[in-house]
Amino acid sequence: MKVLVVGSGGREHALALKLLQSPSVTEVIVSPGNAGTQSLLAPTPGKTLRSSTEAPLALAQRERVDLVVVGPEVPLCEGLVDELTAAGVLAYGPSKLAAELEGSKAFMKGFAARHGIPTARHVVVTQASELDALVKTFDVPPVVKADGLCSGKGVVVAETHEEALRAAREMLSGARFGAAGATVVLEERLFGNEASIHAICDGERYVLLHAAQDHKRIFDRDEGPNTGGMGTYAPAPVVTPKVMREFEELVLVPTLRGMAAEGRPFKGTLFAGIMVTPDEHVRLIEFNVRFGDPETQVLLATLEGDLAQTLAAAARGALDPTSLSASGEHAVCVVLAAQGYPDAPRKGDVIDGLGDAAKVPGVVVIHAGTALDQFGNVVTAGGRVLGITGRGKTLKEAHTRAYQAVHKLGFSGMQYRRDIGGRAGLTLLSE
Ligand SMILES: Nc1ncnc2c1ncn2[C@@H]1O[C@H](COP(=O)(O)OP(=O)(O)O)[C@@H](O)[C@H]1O
Ligand SMILES: [Mg+2]
Repeated sequence: MKVLVVGSGGREHALALKLLQSPSVTEVIVSPGNAGTQSLLAPTPGKTLRSSTEAPLALAQRERVDLVVVGPEVPLCEGLVDELTAAGVLAYGPSKLAAELEGSKAFMKGFAARHGIPTARHVVVTQASELDALVKTFDVPPVVKADGLCSGKGVVVAETHEEALRAAREMLSGARFGAAGATVVLEERLFGNEASIHAICDGERYVLLHAAQDHKRIFDRDEGPNTGGMGTYAPAPVVTPKVMREFEELVLVPTLRGMAAEGRPFKGTLFAGIMVTPDEHVRLIEFNVRFGDPETQVLLATLEGDLAQTLAAAARGALDPTSLSASGEHAVCVVLAAQGYPDAPRKGDVIDGLGDAAKVPGVVVIHAGTALDQFGNVVTAGGRVLGITGRGKTLKEAHTRAYQAVHKLGFSGMQYRRDIGGRAGLTLLSE
């Protein structure tokens, strides 16, 4: 099999490396990719990994690829999978209609309400004149969400009703999020522990992966501004077997049934953000319609089975739910971010120690915002630069290995958190 992965982040590099492990895969092309996906750094003997900047459809046709895996939400919401499918190319990911579960928070909340899926109470607002009265219907200040895609920046967890009102007004004005904020969702604030659960779906059947937890804030102990994610670990103990069963029964199965019934069968990765309430019940916070980044790094590190065959079968609508299983190991991914991230990441800093870091047992160095400069140096080229992923028999071992590798790496202004995995309740602080 020849597989094309669409995207340029850590998620796509991690997918490419896992796909290359499938016995049936001979070549993976990543479009546009990063320094890690360039042939220069190809990892597997006898197999090819390379980047290409050609547009996905033309590339897939010219290279006669057997499967396209679309990483990011934007091309999914724009209908890339529909376009590929119409051209006869096998593509893993949701259709444009199914991708609305992520592309429109108002659609997702309405869908959950229609199908009795447990989630926070919400109202949809399009007129600023209605805001005052609607905000007041919430006893606790509501969470304010721009309807459309905002790269993770379109949600305000307001501490006062005034703050909620201001945030919603700004969204509706179009000043900050343009069309994505023309509709606003106000919702009841939930309390508890957040977790992420991924399922690979074929429209009907699914493979459930480990639960993971993200670390969104830039600094240790969840301080500082929000980011795209500074690290993850899996499995997350907050998702007990009971919570996982409740998720399957009350969220996942009704979602797949409901989407099929509404003429939008969901094929692809359904990534649910959930709140586990203090009394151990599941409330759906949001859906994403693709693999998380950096969740993918830890999920794939602890997965056994042939990913390429599984994703191809899912794309065909013939998934074997037993084709992948969790290895029983733990994984920790520590993100190394550029100077100035998240506001204004600096580019072009030379990265040292890549070779040494990759030699740490149980560690994979995943590239995200990296590029090769004219001298062949790997340099920073984005906010989140690398995702250092350690695997181990215990969370502690995975953590120790990941940080051993982190300490071998360096670039000017490098930022990372020392407490990834700490949400599991262990005291994990690398020195
Ligand atoms: N109803 C809610 N109650 C409490 N916190 C929430 C709620 N909805 C969202 N949040 C917080 O805001 C974050 C972002 O919201 P989310 O719906 O996941 O949007 P996105 O990931 O698209 O920015 C969540 O991870 C969670 O921490
Ligand atoms: Mg989210």
